Amino acid sequence: MYQKRREILLSKLDGKAAIIPGANLVQHHSDCEYPFRQDSDFWYLTGFDEPNSIALFLSHKSIGERFILFVNPKEAYSEVWNGFRSGIEGAETVFMADKAHEVNQFKELLPNYLHGAEEIVFAVGRNPKIETIILDTWSNQLQRYPSVGSAPNSIKSPSLYLNEMRLLKSDYEIERMREAVQISAEAHELVRNNISLKNNERQVQGLIEGYFLEKGARGPAYNSIVASGDNACVLHYTTNNSDFKKDDLLLVDAGCSLFDYYNGDITRTFPIGGKFTAEQKAIYEIVLEAQKCAIENVIPGVSTNYIHMKAVRIIVNGLKEIKLLKGDTDEIIEKESYKHLYMHKTGHWLGLDVHDVGAYRLGDYEVPLENGMILTVEPGIYISDRLPIPEGQPEIEQRWKGIGIRIEDDVLVSNSIPEVLSKAALKEISDLEI
Ligand code: GLY
Ligand code: MN
Ligand code: MN
Repeated sequence: MYQKRREILLSKLDGKAAIIPGANLVQHHSDCEYPFRQDSDFWYLTGFDEPNSIALFLSHKSIGERFILFVNPKEAYSEVWNGFRSGIEGAETVFMADKAHEVNQFKELLPNYLHGAEEIVFAVGRNPKIETIILDTWSNQLQRYPSVGSAPNSIKSPSLYLNEMRLLKSDYEIERMREAVQISAEAHELVRNNISLKNNERQVQGLIEGYFLEKGARGPAYNSIVASGDNACVLHYTTNNSDFKKDDLLLVDAGCSLFDYYNGDITRTFPIGGKFTAEQKAIYEIVLEAQKCAIENVIPGVSTNYIHMKAVRIIVNGLKEIKLLKGDTDEIIEKESYKHLYMHKTGHWLGLDVHDVGAYRLGDYEVPLENGMILTVEPGIYISDRLPIPEGQPEIEQRWKGIGIRIEDDVLVSNSIPEVLSKAALKEISDLEI
């Protein structure tokens, strides 16, 4: 599978040399590090999960000299402290590098590997240490260009070659996504079914993330959001440490990351005590209607912006009915006078990255959905005092404040029938009330 991906990349590179560094360990505090998280592009092309590695894809070289890995060498003491390394031999035999080297040889060997490449493909601005080596090497080659007659003539972004590949999921990737999303959905069900035993957001975080680990996932795909009451109006709330209050809603935005880094991303909002108040129910109904309509429109040929605007229109009309917005719907949409209540987009691509790679628009051209793409559909309404009320829009009565609702599903584009991968997490009002 990785070899096939490399072959596709190499054919797209057509004379260029791509340098894709893996991730490094990041210090958390003193000599403790964050859990290692491989770079998604590097992982997609190699399946190699060790830090400090660098991959070269040399489309200007002959077959058998095109995939080069630089890795940490085997070293008994390091392996005793920090675990197994594949080393040079493993990189060649298990990970099928045409040639592997110790990573500290990168600077010395790079000039030769770049020799003859028409262009360099490298993500500038993300890896200063490697970037310095690449720029030095390139600058030397440019200086020698008049006497030797060739040097790479520009640096291009890897996203030009990889994003479209990653955006269209293979059958195998779709299966992995099904698993990531299914575990995530089951965790949401577990939370709702056990909510009467919990009285604090943190306990719910523990329950949900414990389930991810129990099911063999690596852990949460992103910082889990467990937001009761008004906390739900903070979109990226991760403090997760408030006690529950009577009549609070609980918004949980959480998904797992599998060992091969495929991710779920699901949000559910439900009444902790089992009954919506009239105001909560009114808002929930609007968000659910917007979400269902948006999902129905996840079909090939449609753009994500079209889906977003479908959701926005339903939310604006719904908010007008309950007098939280007023005026002409088209004008409210055009002036974005709804954004104090719905301030984010309706979804994003989902895959190896939670906010996965792939263009939404290219200039004025809106990228149409195709079978095999996976995206989230996640409208919401958040009512609080945090943002100013746009000119001409009504003040908000106290009874609405502190209601934050988002409903987020993960959807596979599949002909005219969108497949909701997260359907095991229930969302009808009758499912959520006791
Ligand atoms: N959990 C991040 C998002 O929904 O986009
Ligand atoms: Mn999302
Ligand atoms: Mn989410």
